Amino acid sequence: MVEFNLPRNSKVGEGKTHKAPDGAGKVRAFKVYRWDPDGGANPRMDTYELDLEKCGPMVLDALIKIKDEVDSTLTFRRSCREGVCGSCAMNVDGTNTLACTKAIEDISGPVKIYPLPHMKVVKDLVPDLNNAYAQYAAIEPWLKTETPQPSEGERLQSPEERKQLDGLWECILCFCCSTSCPSYWWNSDRFLGPATLLQAYRWIADSRDEHTGERLDELEDPFRLYRCHTIMNCTNTCPKGLNPAKAIGEIKKRMVQRR
Ligand code: SF4
Ligand code: SF4
Ligand code: FES
Repeated sequence: MVEFNLPRNSKVGEGKTHKAPDGAGKVRAFKVYRWDPDGGANPRMDTYELDLEKCGPMVLDALIKIKDEVDSTLTFRRSCREGVCGSCAMNVDGTNTLACTKAIEDISGPVKIYPLPHMKVVKDLVPDLNNAYAQYAAIEPWLKTETPQPSEGERLQSPEERKQLDGLWECILCFCCSTSCPSYWWNSDRFLGPATLLQAYRWIADSRDEHTGERLDELEDPFRLYRCHTIMNCTNTCPKGLNPAKAIGEIKKRMVQRR
């Protein structure tokens, strides 16, 4: 059942302020969501003042500087710092994005940083992605075939067939899109969400895959696919410039075409 009042222990309070070092030239405040599952306290927003003259240009650089030099208890995920692993997805300045590709100078005023919205929080900026990954696994994201492997080795595609995968293979599964989708917020137990549906379409659109019918059967469901109401938040927020809403539209088109 939908709960309209926030539980008392989810109210976010004011936290500590870590002042900029003496003599800092270009000070910018970073307001960061903090929550420790072990402490029993409510979440809080800690403020860290950094000298941008001594910090890299991206939001992730600032978080790493905070962890290395100011407060080692701050917890967040990151790996590639090049926008290809999807680990550092978070909500920065009101938008879901990748901290490693978001430039500090593109934000005016204090930089507000929260975990991806509407997910359980493991700690600080780390969301619980177990459900999202289970949904991804459920679409069986690998090539499924019945015919034997061709004697020359590979299953070939024409350039036109390969082109059908453009705009799909680039997805890094950061879940910025799914966590910006109101339908996913309310129904993430049954609606697959735009990230997983884009991935589902990646295999439906693959000319080498021989399980297209079964893949569509699995999605033919009022919740799994049809909870998408084309609100487009997903496409607006994707940090890789992809269009999950279009991919979902393509799946719906295939459903109609096969009737
Ligand atoms: S287009 Fe569909 S999947 Fe994308 S945000 Fe809207 S409802 Fe969610
Ligand atoms: S479609 Fe974009 S926002 Fe969604 S998971 Fe893939 S890369 Fe991330
Ligand atoms: S650290 Fe890999 S996408 Fe940001």
